[in-house]
Amino acid sequence: MTVMTRRDLLAAAGATVAGTMEARAQTTTDKTLIGAAKPKNLIYGAALATWQTDRDATLRRTFDRQCSTVVPEWEMKWGTIEATRGTRNYGAADRVVSFGASHGLTCRGHAAIWHRNLPKWVDAAMRDEGISVLATHISDLMTHYKGKIKSWDIVNEAIEPKDSQANSLRNSAFLQRLGPDYIGRAFTLAAEADPSIQGFYNEYGLYHNDSTDQARRTAVLALLEKLKSSGVPIYGLGIQGHLAMGRPFDASVFSTFLRQVANLGLKILITELDIDDRSLTQTVSERDRLVGERATKFLTAALSERAVEGVVTWGLSDKYSWLNNSVYQKRSDGTMNRCLPYDENFQTKPFWYSLYYAFKSAPLR
Ligand code: G3I
Repeated sequence: MTVMTRRDLLAAAGATVAGTMEARAQTTTDKTLIGAAKPKNLIYGAALATWQTDRDATLRRTFDRQCSTVVPEWEMKWGTIEATRGTRNYGAADRVVSFGASHGLTCRGHAAIWHRNLPKWVDAAMRDEGISVLATHISDLMTHYKGKIKSWDIVNEAIEPKDSQANSLRNSAFLQRLGPDYIGRAFTLAAEADPSIQGFYNEYGLYHNDSTDQARRTAVLALLEKLKSSGVPIYGLGIQGHLAMGRPFDASVFSTFLRQVANLGLKILITELDIDDRSLTQTVSERDRLVGERATKFLTAALSERAVEGVVTWGLSDKYSWLNNSVYQKRSDGTMNRCLPYDENFQTKPFWYSLYYAFKSAPLR
């Protein structure tokens, strides 16, 4: 049993302690995230983009030492695979799977059906040919990765209350061209192509204690209840976990939602965890402390629910986070968003310790 030193306790609570560098050095040499997660039968992984791992040996080493699974950040999306209809290029996505295989890591599939990153030809094709367009894509994708990928995000982000559609469904090309049943059909088509898969419905905005996320929780729960009662082969709910420090989090509200999902007989995976610190104006070390505290609160609530299978962070280092790579998400002060377990120099932060000690204290699955 690992005795938590005072330094560890404070670090896990997101505090900054004197001698942190020494604690980090000692901690990251003999403790790993997967070393804490695996004994509890929990998954820990991170999103991987080949343009990053191609150039960064430290990133490759960190995946190798800290993770049990990887997920392609963009390589496996429909728009990346089949920009031209009928020409399916799995090259980039295959490289993510083979990186995992060569490092003893499983790979998650992300994402079969998503309203973004869609090939330009899909909308007109669905208008003219209907569900067969989806069937061809899903069947080919599942067949290509049969025996290599078990855990899949089959449908991603199909709920959007702001679109004012029935059941708060997103007014996507899929809904417009195929009707609401496309969601259940996608899971059925995937299971027909590979009965061994674990198909997840993946969604964001299910964790903050405000009216926006409450509306999303209500809609997602109703969708899951409908899918389950219709006999759709859905395995679980992917809760993305793109937390924002500027929005409230209440552990009991989140725990209640997790329990409601689990009571449907579904598993849960935190699929894209990162913690946006744009709203914080304090010093870097104080921002890191506050992010670590939020991570501890969120992860303690999540991992206390035994239906939760583990955590995937949306990257490992701030250096490569989508929040620092896209124009719209950057911090107004021009500094890096410190949203992931490692900083841009791959130094562990309180977020890392929050993950480590949340795994260490989680109930065994
Ligand atoms: O398209 C280029 C490609 O030609 C080039 O070879 C490659 C390497 O330089 O970059 C590609 O650029 C961008 C790619 O990210 C690089 O990682 C794409 O244009 C850009 O659209 C893509 O953005 C990704 C986005 O999903 C859309 O796929 C983000 O990295 C990724 O973090 C983001 O992830 C989504 C999840 O899938 C779903 N949940 C929300 C999450 C954040 O938006």
